[in-house]
Amino acid sequence: MKDQAAKLRMQFADQGTAKVSLAGMRSLSFTSGKGGVGKSNIVVNCSVQLARLGKKVLLMDADLGLANIDIMLNLVPKFTIEDVLMGKKGINDVILEGPEGIHVLPASSGISEMSELDSDQQLSLITELSRLKGNYDYILIDTGAGIASSVLRFNAAADEICVVTNTEPTAMTDAYALMKIMATKYQVKRFNLIVNQANSMAEAKGVHQKLCMVFEQFLPVDLVLTGFIPKDPNITRAVRAQTPLSVLYPQSPTAKAFHLLAKQLDQNPDRSFNPDRPNFFQRLGLWKKR
Ligand SMILES: Nc1ncnc2c1ncn2[C@@H]1O[C@H](COP(=O)(O)OP(=O)(O)OP(=O)(O)O)[C@@H](O)[C@H]1O
Ligand SMILES: [Mg+2]
Repeated sequence: MKDQAAKLRMQFADQGTAKVSLAGMRSLSFTSGKGGVGKSNIVVNCSVQLARLGKKVLLMDADLGLANIDIMLNLVPKFTIEDVLMGKKGINDVILEGPEGIHVLPASSGISEMSELDSDQQLSLITELSRLKGNYDYILIDTGAGIASSVLRFNAAADEICVVTNTEPTAMTDAYALMKIMATKYQVKRFNLIVNQANSMAEAKGVHQKLCMVFEQFLPVDLVLTGFIPKDPNITRAVRAQTPLSVLYPQSPTAKAFHLLAKQLDQNPDRSFNPDRPNFFQRLGLWKKR
């Protein structure tokens, strides 16, 4: 364990030349300022819809202290990320198979924040995650709500950030606050905006416009309206049934909205993206240095 950590420390010491190619894998974080706006439902359904587009998807529950994804998918994890951190299990012992063949990396409840992990634990996680290279087209990361340091770091490590808000001013204000931090502290220049629980596309556009106006005044960022999901009581039914709405009601308008969102994400990647920059796992490795 110590030897492995020392080796990795050397490897990450020169991030500029370290190249662990993940051959086209895209990492997308799903995040929000305010809690309870629908991130977990969106990330679960997006994963299912991307799988239906023929993509290999890993869904990572990065709400490390308050795991939800396993419950939403009716999975019973024998092991979690915590076992990886303790060096008890390898990453492939922890990953479970969910609906439509998606793979799920479950979190555990009650784990301490990533920022509190010692460097050997962080390296252990990064080494194990690196074993996944080449296995996936997408890694979708469900972060906790808010601006805790672990949330910011997962967002900073992802290739693209999908910010989820609903139409309430409080959620919009908190989404703005989160993006402002990501833009000023981590130099993020582009965000995907997903408006949840909107009554119409026009309402989603209104939310997008309001946020753009604030950014125009204060910060030069590109805010892309990537999708909108209607308010639908079937989402709550699906959560109760521990089955994604896209599986339970595949023909519903809301499942179609998730399909459009997945397609939009798949077909409109950030084109300014530099493929040679350090990948998701390497950027997680930069945590210690910040
Ligand atoms: N489009 C929607 N229509 C109706 N209800 C919704 C919709 N999206 C989410 N919900 C409901 O809102 C609640 C919160 O959803 P979810 O758990 O996905 O949010 P979250 O952002 O992941 O929350 P947290 O910040 O706690 O992780 C759930 O009860 C869910 O059923
Ligand atoms: Mg959640």
